[in-house]
Amino acid sequence: MNTRLTAYDIINTVPEYRGVVGLSYDSHGWVDGCPEWTDMINRLQPKHVAEVGVWLGMTTRYICGFPCVEDITCVDHWDAQALDKNSIDIAQQPANRTFTMYEQFLTNCYHAEIWKKVYPVRMTSVEGAKYCAALGLTFDMIWIDADHSTKGVKEDIAAWMPLLAPDSLMCGDDWGWQTEPYSVRNAVIESAAKFGMKVTGIGNFWWYTKQEGQNI
Ligand SMILES: C[S@@+](CC[C@H](N)C(=O)[O-])C[C@H]1O[C@@H](n2cnc3c(N)ncnc32)[C@H](O)[C@@H]1O
Repeated sequence: MNTRLTAYDIINTVPEYRGVVGLSYDSHGWVDGCPEWTDMINRLQPKHVAEVGVWLGMTTRYICGFPCVEDITCVDHWDAQALDKNSIDIAQQPANRTFTMYEQFLTNCYHAEIWKKVYPVRMTSVEGAKYCAALGLTFDMIWIDADHSTKGVKEDIAAWMPLLAPDSLMCGDDWGWQTEPYSVRNAVIESAAKFGMKVTGIGNFWWYTKQEGQNI
């Protein structure tokens, strides 16, 4: 039986999170799409999406803005203590926050009216991939923007590639990160070779194709 809960289900059935609808919207985030990605989504028309590394949901809202997207599985540990301070500037966040990142994500989904499409999975990326695999899920698009260490990105791509449906889009953020031990680019290139894929990067956006120069 599929026991997955949407953000709507979580807010309405888990007593601990009932109050989050009273919190204010917080628009903080990094990635709100780019023209190349928008073109690809419009052409590919993904229905089932996995987002790995979610934060407060800026990218979630961008992806949910496409009517073709029926559901988005959002994987993040939402654990402020576990954040890699080298890759996330949490100083940008209000210092006096008394609620958690996860609660803010849930309330943002409520305010943006995407809460019935969003399936939050509060796990590490690798655990989340195992959980989705156990449910038999595959995805038409997978977006990687979690751990930004070279090692972490390689682990994430290795964990999530098997969940990519045929002719679907594996893509992610921070192609511009090239300095070890945080070279997203090195990790993406090495992993592409491992899976027999070609990689293209524009700005911070990167994506895999089967052949050189393909769009998807
Ligand atoms: C850069 S933020 C994502 C930003 C988001 N795409 C946006 O534009 O707002 C990275 C997120 O990945 C999460 N993260 C980092 N390492 C992770 C891991 N190993 N497993 C799950 N989530 C992770 C962090 O908690 C953080 O919320």
